[in-house]
Amino acid sequence: MSEKRKPNNFLDLAQWSRRDLDGVLALAAELKADPAKFSQSLAGKSLAMIFKKSSTRTRVSFEVGMFQLGGQAIFMSSTHTQVGRGEPLEDTARVLSRYVDGIMIRTYEHAEVETLAQYATVPVINGLTDFLHPCQVLTDIFTIQEHLGISLSGLKVAYIGDGNNMANSWINAALQFGFDLKIAAPDGYEPDAILLERVRQQAAGGGKVSVVNNPLIAAQEAQVLNTDVWASMGQEEEAESRRQVFAGYQINEDLLKVAAPEAMVLHCLPAHRGEEITAETFERFQDLIFTQAENRLHVQKALLVTLLGD
Ligand code: CP
Ligand code: NVA
Repeated sequence: MSEKRKPNNFLDLAQWSRRDLDGVLALAAELKADPAKFSQSLAGKSLAMIFKKSSTRTRVSFEVGMFQLGGQAIFMSSTHTQVGRGEPLEDTARVLSRYVDGIMIRTYEHAEVETLAQYATVPVINGLTDFLHPCQVLTDIFTIQEHLGISLSGLKVAYIGDGNNMANSWINAALQFGFDLKIAAPDGYEPDAILLERVRQQAAGGGKVSVVNNPLIAAQEAQVLNTDVWASMGQEEEAESRRQVFAGYQINEDLLKVAAPEAMVLHCLPAHRGEEITAETFERFQDLIFTQAENRLHVQKALLVTLLGD
């Protein structure tokens, strides 16, 4: 097979235009409403999925998504492929590009995803890095739009907890979609400093981003509250010390008292009850949270059709 056309990739919400992101969200709504209409959209196409970290939602939603679009997905665990034995990503990218129509990767260093995209001649999708989780946050935006039925412009969103890959992607989303994002994080656990500097320089999208220490300040009048685990994949050894640092950075019924009435609570999952969210609050919002998880399927199918379709 000869080399294929140079693709667009989905590595970072900041690299797409607002118009293209809106296109994916609109297509996701169509796909959710009438999946049968798209059952052959990717007939004969294959997606390779490289996982250097664990996954339930990302793996299953991409795999089922490809199947429902008439294509197939190939799961590549780093421990059972040459990826885990040190074959360079530059070579993996070029080999896979001769076999498949797209590559999804979940890994540690964000630079690895960029290297893969640089050498691949098929689209590359970021399925999570230490820096970003764009598939999840695009899904979260879809879920908010679906639930509230209004534009996100000016919406008040709070993120409580670690300034991690989710927080960084929420910052990109705030700039793209023009909502107000308040992040509450402990000192030393703020989002990426370079990203925050970009926020200071670029308020063009109308979105305002601020980082505070006090969760009550972030949650004040918030219409959407969002959190994530205190210790991400790769930080297992810090889990105990992080439990001390993050105590109080929790979505619970007391925090919800200062939020807007009817505020939404989102969680990308997996959830650690009693840490970043109480069991009580989680169960009160479980239907919304599991709809959020379901929406990974619809949004990623829209991404796949956009990137891999003819
Ligand atoms: N939210 C999310 O990406 O879940 P997985 O780690 O199970 O893929
Ligand atoms: N911040 C979490 C997200 C999991 C979906 C992690 O990276 O482990």
